Amino acid sequence: MRSIFLFLFCLSCGYANAQKSVAAIIPLPKEMKTDTGFFNLNKETILVDSLNEFPGELSVFNIQLQKLLGYELPISTHKPEHNYINVFHGHEGNRNTFPESYVLRVARKDIELTGLPEGVFHGLQTLVQLIGVNTAVPALYINDQPAFSWRGMHLDVCRHFFTKEEVERYLDELALYKFNVFHWHLTDDQGWRIEIKQFPKLTSIGSIRKETVIGKPSDTARYDGKPYGGFYTQEDIKEVVAYATARHITVIPEIEMPGHAQAALAAYPQYSCTGGPFPVATTWGAFDEVYCPKDSTFVFLEKILDEVMVLFPAPYIHIGGDECSKKRWKTCTNCQALMKKEHLKDENELQSYFIRRIEKYLNSKGKQIIGWDEILEGGLAPNATVMSWRGIKGGIKAMELKHQVIMTPGKPCYFDHYQSKDRKNEPLAIGGYNPLDAVYAFEPIPVLPAAQQATARQYIIGAQGNVWTEYITSFPQVEYMSVPRMCALSEALWTPLKKKNYPDFVKRLKQHTILLDKMQVHYAKVFLHPSTTP
Ligand code: ACM
Ligand code: ZN
Repeated sequence: MRSIFLFLFCLSCGYANAQKSVAAIIPLPKEMKTDTGFFNLNKETILVDSLNEFPGELSVFNIQLQKLLGYELPISTHKPEHNYINVFHGHEGNRNTFPESYVLRVARKDIELTGLPEGVFHGLQTLVQLIGVNTAVPALYINDQPAFSWRGMHLDVCRHFFTKEEVERYLDELALYKFNVFHWHLTDDQGWRIEIKQFPKLTSIGSIRKETVIGKPSDTARYDGKPYGGFYTQEDIKEVVAYATARHITVIPEIEMPGHAQAALAAYPQYSCTGGPFPVATTWGAFDEVYCPKDSTFVFLEKILDEVMVLFPAPYIHIGGDECSKKRWKTCTNCQALMKKEHLKDENELQSYFIRRIEKYLNSKGKQIIGWDEILEGGLAPNATVMSWRGIKGGIKAMELKHQVIMTPGKPCYFDHYQSKDRKNEPLAIGGYNPLDAVYAFEPIPVLPAAQQATARQYIIGAQGNVWTEYITSFPQVEYMSVPRMCALSEALWTPLKKKNYPDFVKRLKQHTILLDKMQVHYAKVFLHPSTTP
């Protein structure tokens, strides 16, 4: 009886409605005050851009509204009396230091959003999240800026291939959570996925494997007997880069060397130590066939990178550098002669010679390199940024050497790991356990002695979530493994540390699922079931 009374009371005073309209924004803004009342967005709401400064940002916003609400809003340079969203440059916030900052004011009569184009874009994403839950947008004031400048998500398209449209949907999801870097893992042992005009066999041969291992690799593993392939033409790449640029996301291509190169060597075995022939890999792991550091290999790689640099305007190229087997180098006369000539004491130093030589080439073209933390072994290339994946040790070492660092330790930044303890009800994953709360708790700047803390703040530029796809065979599964873990990571990268609060995040996330459902995102629901929520 009492609960019925309470229910009727809530309905009559609109309490239920007010409850529903908590501002479920992810990542949580730096500063936010909510007020009473709502701005009611509808088909008549005008987007005001009086100086025509934000056509690109508003066009993406309209595409998002079309998907969510089934209509776009008219754009005008004239401000009506009421029912408008005014987007202008303004002078509020902290845009000199943080060009991505924005100020958003929602009142009953209008909405104001100010910032530079990248800030305005992020502010529009905040609005999309609010509108996607409820077109009655709660009155509020937000003054927002990111904690870190590198907020990345990675996708491996080699182990399994995802179409241009699927990659663009992934970019939509990155944009929604204010990620600003997409690390596109384009080459690996099991497939070369980017058209290179000077070397057509990279895709005609290197993009197709004969078959794929079923389940986990083992001596007794079975294979599916089905050819598997796919690649992006240079036109596809240009489209994806333009799509990302319109969403203020920088695309970093990864071209793996000297290891993880078996697909390339299947196409051009002359750049290996033994001469081949090799198949494109059909199972998972790291393999012995790697590039031989002879002059002709460098000419080959430089010509590939010449085409890559034209396609990707980003200042960085990721050259891989991880898990390079030294087995062939140890018995290769070419490699051993080179080591003698260059006074390299072991194969780790030969790996560093390789990376340094590529860095020198790319630096001469105005590009910087990023490499996985193995590039520290044998001596770091002078200007390299280190992506620390085998824990954070490599990152700490690199920052002490005064190199930029991106943290992406397997625990908790690998989203190919399990997210639930209940493995038998989860799709087969590579292993590991990275639950949502561990991702949320991640802090890119580790706790260090005071003397190192300032160095860490200077050199650790952010972090990244990695989605390796050995066991992720379809795009809905990419979404399942990435969402909501990327939501948690976005908060670790954007929200000030002192404002982070996991129970509050989960509360917002629950409400945010209204938007995810409307977007038909295939997100993991582990966090909705308390019995399996860690
Ligand atoms: C990696 O996971 N091999 C970088
Ligand atoms: Zn060799």
